[in-house]
Amino acid sequence: MRYDKVIKGGRVVSSTGTTRADVAITQERIAAIGLDLEGAEVIDATGKLVLPGAIDVHNHFQLPFCGTVSADDFFTGTRAAAMGGVTTICDFAIQSKPNPIMAAVEARRAEADGKVVVDYGLHAGITDWNKDRAAELPALFEAGVTTFKMFMIYRSEGWQSNDGALYSALRETAKLGGHIGVHAENDDLITLFQKEAEEQGLTGCYTHALTRPTVTETEAVSRAIQLCEAACGRLYVVHMSTGRSADILKEARARGVDVHAETCPQYLLLDDELFKREDGHHFGTCPPIRKPADQETLWARLADGTLEVLATDTCTFNSQQKAMWQGDYRKIPFGMPGVETMLPLAYSEGVRRGRFDLGRLIELVCEAPAKLFGMWPRKGTISVGSDADILVFDPDHQITISADKLATNCDYSPFDGMTVIGWPLTTLVRGKVVMRDRQFVGEAGWGRYIKRDPPVQH
Ligand code: URP
Ligand code: ZN
Ligand code: ZN
Repeated sequence: MRYDKVIKGGRVVSSTGTTRADVAITQERIAAIGLDLEGAEVIDATGKLVLPGAIDVHNHFQLPFCGTVSADDFFTGTRAAAMGGVTTICDFAIQSKPNPIMAAVEARRAEADGKVVVDYGLHAGITDWNKDRAAELPALFEAGVTTFKMFMIYRSEGWQSNDGALYSALRETAKLGGHIGVHAENDDLITLFQKEAEEQGLTGCYTHALTRPTVTETEAVSRAIQLCEAACGRLYVVHMSTGRSADILKEARARGVDVHAETCPQYLLLDDELFKREDGHHFGTCPPIRKPADQETLWARLADGTLEVLATDTCTFNSQQKAMWQGDYRKIPFGMPGVETMLPLAYSEGVRRGRFDLGRLIELVCEAPAKLFGMWPRKGTISVGSDADILVFDPDHQITISADKLATNCDYSPFDGMTVIGWPLTTLVRGKVVMRDRQFVGEAGWGRYIKRDPPVQH
């Protein structure tokens, strides 16, 4: 039998181990896994790892936010994803209240379709939970939107939800099997600390860290968990940044609360001393980057299974946009690029440094995101019948990260100057090569919207 394409000679990786095998593709799916498979086109993977394409469930491309629009659009953002070995992304359709959530989903699809290089799903951001929003849920699930995000902050953006809304939304979405993702920061505390900083005349970048100490996250995380528990809901904490939050999560999961969480490379690798640099505003994101002790606990909680997902919260603002801060930390456009560097950083800093093994990496960036976001087993695994989303990864290729080597539409990387060992070589999305030998060969519009099922029950 001659298949359309065969990836030959590599080591195929899953969470349970690594096997020397060829992977055959017919049309858009994986057709066979075995030895000596024949294909019309052969991709040589000798000496390389063959991984399921990574899934990054947290991106904000072309997002109007903080008085500007994030600099990676659906083309440059998904091009960066492809170059970083990410074959599926999820973005957010944030409701513009009082309009229906579905209007935001339709608008976001119109922005993304035709531009995306890799496959994508959409979460819905809920900004005014009420009876009308609850009534929309069945249609949203039907449209493949099964996961939601609510914000405990961002009052000025008009996105903030109160505890009643959060409780009610947790209860109603769980009835359909969905989950509420939550941006957990305590707005009242942050407002208080910002007022106190103002009284002291503090406006520099480090004030961002000073006004968002760990309690501003940990209190919100434990409140959201308690609301979830009482509502019999399903909760997913996005961009968890502190060690204490991860410990609170661990306790809650041990007593059976249906709560899950992600952290991001910036919280594992960057510390808040960076705010003191001249370009400190480039690192401004919410929640803020933290301390080395937080990083240590987060790595440990990734390894022990407490934190189930690594994602990026990509929300790119270039140096010109970041310059809008003009010396006042409150005016920093909050967010940073990241989708392109997530997998190599996790491989180099996680696997190569012995913080977790390769199987755990596959759980964190492929299998758990596919399961928790309703894409399993279509995505996140190299299995017969799954989409042929595949990454040939060179475990020995060494790169010192710098913006000029990256495809993201940004003139800096928060990880500039970091040397990593292990870098993506060739990426396939549903059988089509979108990056070959580190050259982008993808096409705008090849990516498809993924109608997601409700998350797999744990
Ligand atoms: O600062 C951040 N994280 N910007 C993106 C929006 C969000 O809160 O995820
Ligand atoms: Zn957020
Ligand atoms: Zn985000």
